[in-house]
Parts: sequence; structure tokens; C-alpha cells
Amino acid sequence: MQIRTEQARDRAGIAELIGAAFRDALHKTGREAQIVADLRAAGALRLSLVAEAGPEDRAPDGAGPGTLLGHIAVSPAQIGAVPGWGLIGPLAVRPDWQGRGIGAALMRAALAALRAQPGCPGAVLVGYPAYYGRFGFASFPDLGMPGVPQEAVMALPFTDAAPHGVPLHHAAFGLDQG
Ligand SMILES: CC(C)(COP(=O)(O)OP(=O)(O)OC[C@H]1O[C@@H](n2cnc3c(N)ncnc32)[C@H](O)[C@@H]1OP(=O)(O)O)[C@@H](O)C(=O)NCCC(=O)NCCS
Repeated sequence: MQIRTEQARDRAGIAELIGAAFRDALHKTGREAQIVADLRAAGALRLSLVAEAGPEDRAPDGAGPGTLLGHIAVSPAQIGAVPGWGLIGPLAVRPDWQGRGIGAALMRAALAALRAQPGCPGAVLVGYPAYYGRFGFASFPDLGMPGVPQEAVMALPFTDAAPHGVPLHHAAFGLDQG
């Protein structure tokens, strides 16, 4: 399995894989693939990484070398007065391939890429605390979004400055900006 930046030829495969990953997910909007397409169309896909099966990766679901197994999107966000945060999500792993570290590998690659971007204050996301806590994401007293459980709004600051405010995200997410 290798992680690389998306290419134009990956677009249909990314949409298909996101649809499959979220089909049985506990929390979903059904719009996850469309969000990525809209971010891309708006030039707001700051990072779009795919996990691609290598020669050693074969599975009963028909996946083989070249199959896209996972995807992570990062778009720009502002928290309070601070721009430049990387908003992580959606993160998707093909159902038969979940639980093998592909999500973790995509997350680590995205975080490494964001850390390498000068002036990036950190990463932020809305998701499962039990999963994202392992990467260093945490909730903060002054970080939140209206209508979203406080513990699900998590950030990983790259400096000592704690995030204050509401993460303002791209309109492609179709959420109330509060
Ligand atoms: C969530 C997801 C991206 C994780 O990717 P993955 O490759 O399966 O995860 P990894 O192999 O890196 O990690 C597996 C660990 O994550 C945990 N995990 C997976 N989904 C979880 C969830 N919803 N809540 C808490 N923990 C979760 C597993 O229990 C496992 O824990 P362990 O290491 O203690 O055994 C993947 O399961 C997925 O695509 N789910 C459907 C879509 C989704 O819900 N995306 C996240 C919201 S944006």
C-alpha cells in the first residue's frame, strides 16, 4: 500500500470509495463524496491523499494493485481570528480494508504534510474522540460548533496556542456556520 496525492484519474475511484466507506457508517450525511468533489471544484482541497493497493494487497472484495483503499481530504479553516488551519475530513477507508491501519497511515501523512506547511497553526476536525484522540487530537474549552457535541470538535495545534472559537469551514460542507 502506498500513500500519494490524488491524480485527476483518481476522481471517480475516490467518489466510489467514499460512498462505500460511509454506506454503513454510524454518522454520515450521504454527501461525503459530493463534499470532496465540491471542495476540489472550488480549489479548496488543500490536501487530497489516497492509499493505493500495492502488489501485495489483494482481497475478496476484488481489490488488487492500483485499487484505491482509502482517502483523506484537508481543506482550509479559520478558528476565531486565526486562518490557515487544516480541516481534516472526510476520512474514508474501503469497508473490507478497515481496521488495518490505513486510516491511521492517511492521517499521519496528512498531519506531516500540514506540519511542513509554513505558518499552519494545526489541524481540526469533527469526529469520534475514541479514534482521533490517538493522533493527538483533543477538545478544548473554547472550541466548538453550534449543534455539534463539544467532544466531537477536536483540534491538534502545532504550537502552544489553544484554539478559541468556531472553526469556520468551506461552504462545500453545507453546514450552518453558526
Ligand atoms: C474511521 C475509519 C476512517 C478508520 O480507518 P481504519 O483504517 O479502519 O482505522 P485504523 O486501522 O487506522 O484504526 C483501527 C482502529 O480504529 C478504531 N475505530 C475505527 N472506527 C472507529 C470509530 N468509529 N470510533 C472509534 N474507533 C474507531 C478501531 O476500533 C481500531 O481500534 P484499535 O486500533 O484500538 O483496534 C474507517 O473505519 C472508515 O472509513 N469508517 C467509515 C467512514 C467514517 O466513519 N469516517 C470517519 C468520519 S469522517
